[in-house]
This record gives sequence, C-alpha cells and structure tokens, in this order.
Amino acid sequence: MPSTVVVGGFFGDEGKGKIISYLTMKDNPTIVVRGGAGPNAGHTVVDGDKIYKIRMLPSGFLNKNAKVLIGPGVVINPEVLLKEIKEFGASGRAFVDRHCGIIEETHIQRDSCGDLKEKIGSTGSGTGPANADRAMRTLKLAKDIPSLSKFIVDVPHLIHSALESNENVLVEGTQGTFLSLWHGTYPYVTSKEVTASGICADVGLGPTNVDEVIVVFKSYVTRVGTGPMDNELEPEDISERGWSEFGTVTGRPRRASDFNFELAKRAISLNSATQIAITKLDIRFPDCAGKTLYEELNHDAKSFIKNIEDTLKVPVTILGTGPDKDAIIDRRK
Ligand code: GTP
Ligand code: IMP
Ligand code: MG
Repeated sequence: MPSTVVVGGFFGDEGKGKIISYLTMKDNPTIVVRGGAGPNAGHTVVDGDKIYKIRMLPSGFLNKNAKVLIGPGVVINPEVLLKEIKEFGASGRAFVDRHCGIIEETHIQRDSCGDLKEKIGSTGSGTGPANADRAMRTLKLAKDIPSLSKFIVDVPHLIHSALESNENVLVEGTQGTFLSLWHGTYPYVTSKEVTASGICADVGLGPTNVDEVIVVFKSYVTRVGTGPMDNELEPEDISERGWSEFGTVTGRPRRASDFNFELAKRAISLNSATQIAITKLDIRFPDCAGKTLYEELNHDAKSFIKNIEDTLKVPVTILGTGPDKDAIIDRRK
C-alpha cells in the first residue's frame, strides 16, 4: 500500500524504531517521514552488530534509496540532527520541512527544571517549551537557521508527489497514544497530539490519503517518567520477569505492567488501526527468540496473539522476536 503510518499504542518505546527499520528495507518506500514531538523520542535500531540510538532522524535511514524527511509539525534540535545525519551516513538524503520549529538553549533550560522536570518527568530535551513557543507564535523555524539551509525542502509536496507516482511512503510516529496531549493521561503527557491523525497532520497527509495504520504494542506495557499506570509491577517483579528496560534518551528505568487490553482497545479506536505489530514476543516467550515463521512459535505465544486478535478485532501482522531489525515474523499478505 502506498502510505503506511506506524504509531505507538501505549506510552512510547513500543519498539517503533525496530518495526520501521524492518519495513523500510522490506517495502522499499521512497520516503520515510517523521511526525511526532521532537528529540524527546529515542528510537533504537539494531542492524547486525550495529546499534543506533536515534532522536531526530527517521528510523528508516538504513535504506539508502529512501529520502528521510522530518515534517513541519516536529521541533528540531539542529545540533542533534546534524550529528545524526553525519554519524548515520544520511547526507544527501535527509531533509527537513522549512516550517519545522527550532529548539534553542533556552528551551532546554526551561525543560530541565521546575514542574516539567519534577512533576511530569519530561525528557529535558526542550521539546515541550519549544512547542509552547510555537503556540505563542514566537518560535524560530528551520528556514531561519543558516546551518539548516541545505537541508530545507517542502515535505508535504514531496510526499504527495511520491504518492501520485504510486511510490510507498512510510510515516513514522514517535511517543505513544497515551502520551498524547489530547488523549493521554494529562498532565502526564508530551506536548503534542501523537495518535495517527496527529502524526499525519505533522507531515501534511490528510485522512483520505492513509492506506494502512499499524499500531505497535509491546507484549507488556512500559512507561518512563511519572503519571498513572494501571497494575504497575514492583521493580523486583519487573526484573524477575525479565522485563527491565532503560530509557533511550534519559537512561531512566522503565516502569512496567502486563499487556493492558483496555488501553489497547482504546488505542485501536483512537488510531483507526488496520494492523497490529507486537514487539518483544521473545521476552514473554523466550523460545520464540529469533523466529521468523509463525508456525515455529510455541502454543502459548500463538494463544497470546490469538487472544489479542479476538479481543481487538484487528489482525496482528508483524511480530518482533528480537532486537535486530530482521528478527521479525511478517504475516502481511
Ligand atoms: P520512542 O519513539 O521513544 O517511543 O521509541 P521506540 O518505540 O522506537 O522504542 P525504543 O527503541 O525506545 O524501545 C524499544 C526497545 O526494545 C529497544 O531497546 C529495542 O531494541 C527493543 N526491541 C524492539 N523490538 C524488540 C523485540 O521484538 N524483541 C526484543 N528483545 N527487543 C526489541
Ligand atoms: P516531554 O515530552 O519531554 O515533555 O516528556 C513528557 C512525558 O512524556 C515524560 O513522562 C516523558 O518520559 C514522556 N516521553 C516523551 N517522549 C517519549 C518517548 O519517546 N518515549 C517514551 N516516553 C516519552
Ligand atoms: Mg524510545
């Protein structure tokens, strides 16, 4: 399908980076475009012995035939972006929209103290204060920044030209449904709307131009920072189950609970999901590690997936069985 949107179904960190890096090699999109808040995101991409931690560049950078773009709704830290373009070999194919907002030192300072840091547990990346200034119409835009001049493009125009030529476009969400400013656990949320509609608005894609919406869930729920979390497990229980994780951007331990069907159901409606991806199946069911065929999964793993499909009434098409981008079971037709 020409346009596929990938978003998080819980509180971020569902493993979107891994799913996107797989789809980017498998489906050969000519454009991978990022929506979402800003460099508060931390995607992890594992390609063989290489591990990439990405905050700004789309996770689709591994496919050298794809342009990797950042939509106008995203705020950019130019220093982080330029470093990632260089380090991850994306020069010449990484571009940003002229209307992307710019994070400056003052935003980082405002994000690193007071209520944002202490009450909300923000990432301290300057994303929230920059979005606040954008709403106040005082934020600088990418077109005002000389160091970005050779990276500036019209992202919506490029996306629509690709779709008109029937090329695949992959739209990458960041954060997760319950961190949405509108639909999440306010005030313990991020500074943007991050469900599929918000991500599409960020990049300039209207609702009738979306073909597939893949909602990514981890096989259990994690959350970093503060805010409510139903049936949260004690740290000892998390570690006993082998579910311990640490934030990509902040290094903070991630809180955890079992897979939450109520949240998942709501995420399916809020995002109009057409497909579900489940990551970390190998962590719940260790003998699924590295499997690439559904038939090879054990009975418990298959029942877990069937229960998700029966309850949520959306097909589980992609399963993560390890951190590597190719540790995937792809059940799409
Ligand atoms: P945000 O954009 O910050 O919301 O992050 P994200 O959704 O891209 O997820 P992130 O990379 O922060 O966290 C997911 C973690 O799980 C990373 O360490 C991944 O390498 C790892 N991971 C993803 N899928 C799988 C999987 O199927 N199995 C295992 N074992 N690890 C996985
Ligand atoms: P902010 O977006 O930095 O303002 O942080 C607000 C809340 O959202 C905090 O609880 C963060 O931990 C959380 N958050 C923001 N971005 C991400 C993400 O990409 N993954 C997981 N949590 C995030
Ligand atoms: Mg993350």
